[in-house]
Amino acid sequence: MAFQTLLAKKALGTALRNGAAELGLAPALGLCQARKLQTFSLPDLPYDYGSLEPAISGEIMRIHHQKHHQAYITNYNKALEQLDEAIAKGDASKVVGLQSAIKFNGGGHVNHSIFWKNLAPTKEGGGEPPKGALGWAIDTDLGSFEALIQKISAEGAALQGSGWVWLALDKELKKVTVETTANQDPLVTKGLHLVPLLGIDVWEHAYYLQYKNVRPDYLKNIWGVINWKYASEVYEKESA
Ligand SMILES: [Fe+2]
Repeated sequence: MAFQTLLAKKALGTALRNGAAELGLAPALGLCQARKLQTFSLPDLPYDYGSLEPAISGEIMRIHHQKHHQAYITNYNKALEQLDEAIAKGDASKVVGLQSAIKFNGGGHVNHSIFWKNLAPTKEGGGEPPKGALGWAIDTDLGSFEALIQKISAEGAALQGSGWVWLALDKELKKVTVETTANQDPLVTKGLHLVPLLGIDVWEHAYYLQYKNVRPDYLKNIWGVINWKYASEVYEKESA
């Protein structure tokens, strides 16, 4: 994930400086340097906005990426800076109060960063079924590729409100599973053992301009632009 840096003064650094100064150690330890806070920036898409048509319109892709994903990043960075200040001040209440914004906006950034990689234009292999180890795992654990599509489409259509439907590698059970998460909860909130291979955004902003309220049609057409090559690479790396 792309990130940039901001400088922020730290209470911990101040305390260390003060303590070191009393001992005459500050110059030797270089403790006058401010610590760097990492923030995040919008990743580029590996394809043009209009290149997923007709499955997903260029207008949806542009707004989804430039407006929605950017908003999650902006608000995530803002929350992280506030968290940094709250920790520096020892404001425990503020630290706890920021967790919801961090989960929502940080989750939005994590999820969308995966989602863009899960898509590919048809002419670049989008929609070509997985081969090799992931193909075998899907057949073994979920019955068949067709059964997987049916299960994800059904669970995505049935998900109430906004959220995500996932194909995951369960590293504990050593099998692939279908999972859902609400809102912008990333898959990691259901356990560190779950690795996202494919995440499909079922928020209305992902399809409404083209499909209106008919989410099942969006879920029927998106399979034509799924980048199974990327999912296979993650599976092979994580299951090794
Ligand atoms: Fe989205």
